[in-house]
Amino acid sequence: MTLLCELSYTYNYVMSGFQKGNPVILKLGLDSEAVKIEAFALKCFAGYGAVKVLATNENALLLEQAIPGTSLKKYFPDKDIEAVQIACKIMKKLHHAKIPDYHPSLLQSGGGANNFPHIKDWLSALDKDWDLPSHYLQKARKLRDQLLQTAEQDILLHGDLHHDNILQNGDDWMVIDPKGVIGKPAYEITAFIRNPIPDLLSKQNAIKIIQNRIIAFSDILNIPKSRIADWCFVGAVLSWTWAIQGNLDTKYWKQITKVFDEMP
Ligand SMILES: Nc1ncnc2c1ncn2[C@@H]1O[C@H](COP(=O)(O)OP(=O)(O)OP(=O)(O)O)[C@@H](O)[C@H]1O
Ligand SMILES: [Mg+2]
Repeated sequence: MTLLCELSYTYNYVMSGFQKGNPVILKLGLDSEAVKIEAFALKCFAGYGAVKVLATNENALLLEQAIPGTSLKKYFPDKDIEAVQIACKIMKKLHHAKIPDYHPSLLQSGGGANNFPHIKDWLSALDKDWDLPSHYLQKARKLRDQLLQTAEQDILLHGDLHHDNILQNGDDWMVIDPKGVIGKPAYEITAFIRNPIPDLLSKQNAIKIIQNRIIAFSDILNIPKSRIADWCFVGAVLSWTWAIQGNLDTKYWKQITKVFDEMP
């Protein structure tokens, strides 16, 4: 088997190989809760655009391998709107997956083994006192409360649907690496809009790229532009808190939050 990558803060190892002549991926993770939730999310998304899970145990996932497996990042920046169209097609498919009936987030907040959290559980992190500008925190809390009350129905979301988690598989595209979270469809757009990290913000026309993406997502998915932009702001502040919590560099989150804050 070939070691493809080692990822520092979740400590996943991803290896490629063959099982009975079929190309497979073995993903090993130290966080068994995260592995369980990812496996469960992939099973819920089976037939809705995600790679198939072939086997699992506490710390490993054996997955169908996307071939050639090139990520949607290859469309950045030259074919950016084409990438948005592909992401929208995938979202439409994924978002038909059903929330499992016994899902506890319908009854109470908080996830756990084999259960998905609700986006409001993630966003409760905003109520803590973080070392970031207080006007950003206050704005994020206010927008969060408004956005969670919109009439959009809650659905099962991928939760991290950015370029590197969308892979070419033959003539089609498939998703990998779902976090699995229940929430409003518009939240799903936020990961794509702020990626690829950090390449997006190194472009001189980054703001124009982001604005064009918001227009394209809004047109294709019929979601108001202002709602997408508001979710992007909230999502950026949330990621900033995760970066602080994980002792990671917060520079990108500071920059992208400012971009969304100043978006007309
Ligand atoms: N089923 C698959 N088919 C082909 N390639 C894959 C597959 N699963 C993972 N990979 C490759 O391994 C990389 C890392 O996988 P994955 O995103 O699942 O790991 P991760 O540790 O959760 O990553 P990250 O934290 O960067 O999102 C992918 O970007 C892709 O290149
Ligand atoms: Mg990934």
